[in-house]
Amino acid sequence: MAAAGKKCSGVLFLFLLFSLFSLSQSLLSDSRKLSVELNPGAASLPRGGDLLHVRAVGDNDTLHFLFCSQGAPTLLLVHTNTSSSTVQVNWSQFVERNHSGSLKVEPESSILYSSALVFSRLLEYDDVNDTADPISDLFPPYELQDFIWSRFNLSGPSALLCGAAANFTNGSLCLQLSAFESEGRGQSWPRLLHTANSSQVRVWLDGVLPRASRSRFLLELKAVGGVYPLSRVEVHRSIDDEFTPSIFQVSQWVPTENASSADLGFVQWKPVAYRQSNPALEDATPCRHSDPRPQSGEAAAAASGLIRAFYAEPETFGMNVSFGLAGEPFYNSTKFLSWTLLVGSGSPPVDSFSPLVVSVMAVGLGTPMILLLLGGVFVLPAEEGAASATYEPIN
Ligand SMILES: *[C@@H]1O[C@H](CO)[C@@H](O)[C@H](O)[C@H]1NC(C)=O
Ligand SMILES: *[C@@H]1O[C@H](CO)[C@@H](O)[C@H](O)[C@H]1NC(C)=O
Ligand SMILES: *[C@@H]1O[C@H](CO)[C@@H](O)[C@H](O)[C@H]1NC(C)=O
Ligand SMILES: *[C@@H]1O[C@H](CO)[C@@H](O)[C@H](O)[C@H]1NC(C)=O
Ligand SMILES: *[C@@H]1O[C@H](CO)[C@@H](O)[C@H](O)[C@H]1NC(C)=O
Ligand SMILES: *[C@@H]1O[C@H](CO)[C@@H](O)[C@H](O)[C@H]1NC(C)=O
Ligand SMILES: *[C@@H]1O[C@H](CO)[C@@H](O)[C@H](O)[C@H]1NC(C)=O
Ligand SMILES: *[C@@H]1O[C@H](CO)[C@@H](O)[C@H](O)[C@H]1NC(C)=O
Ligand SMILES: *[C@@H]1O[C@H](CO)[C@@H](O)[C@H](O)[C@H]1NC(C)=O
Ligand SMILES: *[C@@H]1O[C@H](CO)[C@@H](O)[C@H](O)[C@H]1NC(C)=O
Ligand SMILES: *[C@@H]1O[C@H](CO)[C@@H](O)[C@H](O)[C@H]1NC(C)=O
Ligand SMILES: *[C@@H]1O[C@H](CO)[C@@H](O)[C@H](O)[C@H]1NC(C)=O
Repeated sequence: MAAAGKKCSGVLFLFLLFSLFSLSQSLLSDSRKLSVELNPGAASLPRGGDLLHVRAVGDNDTLHFLFCSQGAPTLLLVHTNTSSSTVQVNWSQFVERNHSGSLKVEPESSILYSSALVFSRLLEYDDVNDTADPISDLFPPYELQDFIWSRFNLSGPSALLCGAAANFTNGSLCLQLSAFESEGRGQSWPRLLHTANSSQVRVWLDGVLPRASRSRFLLELKAVGGVYPLSRVEVHRSIDDEFTPSIFQVSQWVPTENASSADLGFVQWKPVAYRQSNPALEDATPCRHSDPRPQSGEAAAAASGLIRAFYAEPETFGMNVSFGLAGEPFYNSTKFLSWTLLVGSGSPPVDSFSPLVVSVMAVGLGTPMILLLLGGVFVLPAEEGAASATYEPIN
């Protein structure tokens, strides 16, 4: 009776200890103060698209998230070493999209790092033989800079942008940007872990009539940066827990290895897309990426008003993400595809075991541990002077 009581209180103690630990972790984790401004400084609605500015102010630094639909949708992240840096836009120049320097983060000397992600093209191919090999039978690409984009639909630190090609029959491509005050997880799968230093973009293709019944899609992305552009993709093992069932990997687009990662940036995603907006497990479809390749910076600036405005000499790498593998259902099975990625500064968040898994482990590992300890306590006095005996194998 007494032993069982001790065992229970031991487990309870471990559990409490763990809860306290995770609580203190969440209290200690950094947070930022967010403020949101649409078309900062513009006298009227600018022609050609919106510019959203999310200012995320930390103790002694600021992250500026700029999301723009002037041309191809683009997210620019600028990290400064002061909590008072500002964004200045010369709107008459900005909307002409031919002036570099029409958007500035000031003071310029406070900029620690900047990096941008351009959603440049949507590619579609007819996978007649179900090989999921995007080299074959490509249709003419959809240039996202030519889409007709909606005005931003804002709700808190989040913006929704939907657009369609003149050729789309019904259907649309949407991007939703979310910025965060503190650490947490996305609400829908893949439930990526974010911090206050990252923002999340969910991209989905809904109701578009495919050009072939066996169509599959790819999304082309371009990463633009200054000194250390994102140039390689690392694939890491990830813990399979309840947040992203059945996915064991996380991919990160990061700068060259030489760069100290402390104050640079990243794009992170899990290699999975979903074929339903409220997916079940069977709606998950794997995705793959191509190796990032150097691209023309001029082409990126021509496609994106924000790149033109901010960068004088945009160093650019491009990459394709393809959705679906051989044998997986084609796009027209549901006419829906969604994919989520994280764009941030510093090091990418690392998944750890979820509290549920840890409590299960604590109970599973803790019980034998406590039994051993209790056993040790009872055994030790009896075997004083014969400590080495306790290290002999147990039969
Ligand atoms: C911010 O800067 C002030 C003064 O420069 C310094 O006292 C403070 O410790 C810094 N805070 C952090 C979190 O770095
Ligand atoms: C914006 O640029 C124009 C030149 O295109 C210049 O005349 C004007 O002074 C600039 N405005 C500001 C606020 O700098
Ligand atoms: C930018 O484009 C406008 C017309 O769109 C043109 O009038 C202007 O001269 C151009 N400026 C530069 C610097 O190319
Ligand atoms: C950071 O802040 C210091 C002091 O305000 C400034 O001198 C320096 O140029 C800033 N920029 C960088 C990139 O460190
Ligand atoms: C599909 O398979 C057929 C027969 O094997 C072959 O002739 C054709 O070239 C393949 N098409 C593609 C696009 O690979
Ligand atoms: C749009 O439609 C035209 C005519 O049907 C076609 O020539 C063009 O390639 C299409 N563009 C795309 C991106 O599908
Ligand atoms: C804006 O988004 C909300 C939900 O996010 C939606 O209910 C609303 O209809 C949208 N408004 C417009 C104008 O699209
Ligand atoms: C487009 O949407 C309308 C209304 O939802 C529907 O009646 C029509 O069949 C759709 N067209 C195609 C090609 O899916
Ligand atoms: C966020 O960025 C700040 C400034 O670079 C850094 O001090 C902090 O540790 C970062 N937080 C996380 C969770 O990476
Ligand atoms: C896919 O498209 C083809 C031809 O357009 C059609 O016959 C087939 O029924 C479609 N499949 C689904 C699941 O809608
Ligand atoms: C990175 O390091 C390699 C050798 O270790 C060197 O050849 C290369 O120039 C470096 N690149 C940069 C951008 O510093
Ligand atoms: C993406 O794929 C298309 C089609 O294979 C190719 O033309 C394009 O160059 C690729 N983009 C990048 C950045 O690799």
